Amino acid sequence: MTNVSVTVNAERYDVTDVEPRMLLSDFLRDCLGLTGTHVGCEHGVCGACTVLVNGDSARACLMLAVQANGAEIVTVEGLGSPEELSMLQSQFREHHGLQCGFCTPGMLMTGEDMLRKYPLATDEDIREGLSGNLCRCTGYQNIVAAIRSAAAMREGKKT
Ligand code: FES
Ligand code: FES
Repeated sequence: MTNVSVTVNAERYDVTDVEPRMLLSDFLRDCLGLTGTHVGCEHGVCGACTVLVNGDSARACLMLAVQANGAEIVTVEGLGSPEELSMLQSQFREHHGLQCGFCTPGMLMTGEDMLRKYPLATDEDIREGLSGNLCRCTGYQNIVAAIRSAAAMREGKKT
């Protein structure tokens, strides 16, 4: 057993007696109660577990909790609240970028990473950025539309 100290959504957590083999996704959900991070495939394929680790998107099911020791993590809970959605969340709602919602936390975190780093000038840019996130419901069109709209708003353009 080991100790893990992380900052998640600007809050510091010091957790003792963590199993060295515990995945970051299980740590977030089971130890910290942050169940917004979803677990689908548990082997790096679906992207549902995507979070930001030190500013970069990462699959929480491919990291051990101990590897995140000392890291700054943002989960979907850190984007906005039901009362005050983040800009990207509000565009997902506006464009109906979800159906069952299972993939949505991962889509939002990948989208957030893309918006922070890339120009996202074309739909192809957005689709390429999302290519590691699987959705079984939407056909992706509305997810792309939501991110396109958020990218335009970021640039101060009307959508
Ligand atoms: S649960 Fe992590 S990529 Fe699918
Ligand atoms: S909305 Fe159901 S998996 Fe994407």
